[in-house]
Amino acid sequence: MANQVINGKQIVSDIRGQLKEEIDALAAEGFRPGLAVVLVGEDPASAVYVRNKAKACEQVGIYSEVHRLPAETSQAELLELVDKLNRDANIHGILVQLPLPKHISEDAVIDAIAVEKDVDGFHPINVGNLSIGKPSLLPCTPAGIIEIIKRTGVTIAGKRAVVIGRSNIVGKPVSMLLLREHATVTICHSRTANMKELCREADILVVAIGKPKFVTKEFVKPGAVVIDVGINRLEDGSLAGDVDFDDVVDTAGPITPVPGVVGPMTITMLLANTVQAAKALRK
Ligand code: GUN
Repeated sequence: MANQVINGKQIVSDIRGQLKEEIDALAAEGFRPGLAVVLVGEDPASAVYVRNKAKACEQVGIYSEVHRLPAETSQAELLELVDKLNRDANIHGILVQLPLPKHISEDAVIDAIAVEKDVDGFHPINVGNLSIGKPSLLPCTPAGIIEIIKRTGVTIAGKRAVVIGRSNIVGKPVSMLLLREHATVTICHSRTANMKELCREADILVVAIGKPKFVTKEFVKPGAVVIDVGINRLEDGSLAGDVDFDDVVDTAGPITPVPGVVGPMTITMLLANTVQAAKALRK
């Protein structure tokens, strides 16, 4: 079977092109969407993500500001900044990069972000609205995954979807979104028995488990869509997904390589969320 490696560059450039047109039209009316990104501490991976987010904003014409705070910043100081950004009329989206230093409660910070500026879709009200099917800001990685699947041309409705991983950032919300798209959804996790057998029933397999090359061809139904959310640094310094790409590529149908698809799509959905939030706040 000819493999179908999903072309992330093409999808991302199509969507960012559309967003840029929309942002240019808003700019012509004198309105510019704005995003504030907050980074606490010096985690190198987080620093790279934050830089990429700011660069992507610049590409499409979104105003962005990055607040870099020292690792010793207190929770009260961070909450004070969030409160200031909540009240800033030039800022329509707020993203506090996770993980936060251990002395700061991530829940307290997420709860403090204005629901309508929560472009991560992590606030309990946005999570609740997703779960009951009301309009809301959707978490970026899950929203990007749905967009990628749709752009393969595969119909989601009626399909068996299996998600490996039950995190609040990816596993749970992507399961809710697949359900909203009328898939029959199974969530696998560390206590799941017969994981391989369950995965082999999947027409759509989403892997977000954080273990390099965990999924081999024994997990994959021939022709299935395989979406790899993992990004793991190996001992030799190279990057690997949660899927053993070389082993799986000839069994799967459309499949995402790592890096190159889910990461850039996550940032693209952040841009889309910022535009959505800005338009809603402008009314
Ligand atoms: N850290 C890893 N992924 C994410 C994300 O999607 N949003 C935020 N805020 N932090 C992250």
